[in-house]
Amino acid sequence: MEKLKVGIIGCGVIFDLNILGYLNRDDIEITCLCDSKERHIKEKIEKFNLGSDVRHYHDYKEMLDVENIDILEILLPHHLHCEVTLYATQKNILGISVQKPMAHSIKDCDKMINACKNNNIKLKIFENFTFYPPIMRAKQLLEEGIIGEVNSIHIKTLEASKGGWDITTTTWIWRLDPKLCGGGLECGSPIIFDDGFHKFWLAIHLIGAKIEKVYSWIDRFNNLDAPAYIMWKYAPPQDSDFFVPTYGNMEYNYSPNMTLPSPYYPEDEFISITGSEGIMWINQATAGGNTMSKSEFFPAIVIFRDGKIETISDMERDWKYGFINSTHHFIEAIKNGGDPILSGEEGKYTTQFALAALKSSMLGKEINPKDIKE
Ligand SMILES: NC(=O)c1ccc[n+]([C@@H]2O[C@H](COP(=O)([O-])OP(=O)(O)OC[C@H]3O[C@@H](n4cnc5c(N)ncnc54)[C@H](O)[C@@H]3O)[C@@H](O)[C@H]2O)c1
Repeated sequence: MEKLKVGIIGCGVIFDLNILGYLNRDDIEITCLCDSKERHIKEKIEKFNLGSDVRHYHDYKEMLDVENIDILEILLPHHLHCEVTLYATQKNILGISVQKPMAHSIKDCDKMINACKNNNIKLKIFENFTFYPPIMRAKQLLEEGIIGEVNSIHIKTLEASKGGWDITTTTWIWRLDPKLCGGGLECGSPIIFDDGFHKFWLAIHLIGAKIEKVYSWIDRFNNLDAPAYIMWKYAPPQDSDFFVPTYGNMEYNYSPNMTLPSPYYPEDEFISITGSEGIMWINQATAGGNTMSKSEFFPAIVIFRDGKIETISDMERDWKYGFINSTHHFIEAIKNGGDPILSGEEGKYTTQFALAALKSSMLGKEINPKDIKE
């Protein structure tokens, strides 16, 4: 079998999870890595036993000019996502996966979408929560109508400061610079524009509707754009006369003295969804599998309907499976056809939602994401 050749640009923190879906497959060969710091490339090759044949580059243009790759993985700070994607679309590549958030601006999202379309390249905006087993199961159950017609979602993100990865300051510093991180806030936006992308997407994905208006308060503590409270109303369905108006809200807490045991970031998520016949709770994501998951109080999914409680726990809860499944889905889309999740258009709309929330906090008024055009 002809192997698909994979090149990766950016060998920082998230490389350790993005690489997993490419390992131990007969159909994949990792041929080249690029990072401005040689030390980062060497560390990853050693850590994941990638072999001495992998070629090293420090300039992404040189790698793309020289190498013949099928799949390009872009794991760079946000300000580089658009420029590297556009350069790569001039090459003979089958698929480009760009880590979230897609780009700083909607104009850049459009440029990326158009360049990929014009060159017949599949564009994936890499989002892992979609493929996290409890979220996948929850989505399937919602579609089966387990709690009836959904009319409300609450997404809580708990940010603690101790208990997770030991992260270098370099991965943090660019997120505090608004020119590099994006989002428009003076303090940068490591929370709402960066991590928030996952949660804005989940709000769209789990409910299956677009947003009519969003309003938010985004505070600032310890250089973070948190705590924050963001609320929105979904656009009514076009094909139904009977529906309960549907709302959502997102809450970011910051607990500076809390220890949150996690194999990854000291962060976790708790989602509740209400429908016409019941309520669903999804317990945990980023820190899934930790001491909380092992207790009887936090099953992966809890359903209340018909006056009874049901718990569902028979699935992997380690957050890394979201990354592995997401990458496998992309490889299948390249090999057998089909759209990547997220598509460029989905990434663009999620970016509009995020920028609308950020703009609302700055202007103190409701914004419709579709009015974010820049
Ligand atoms: N899906 C998730 O849950 C998740 C989690 C973390 C990060 N991310 C996303 O992944 C991307 C990378 O984040 P990270 O945390 O790994 O950042 P990082 O700072 O740890 O890594 C970035 C890497 O890019 C390299 N780099 C910077 N500029 C470069 C250039 N011009 N050419 C070549 N290499 C260059 C750096 O040396 C570094 O090794 C961001 O878009 C971020 O939002 C996603």
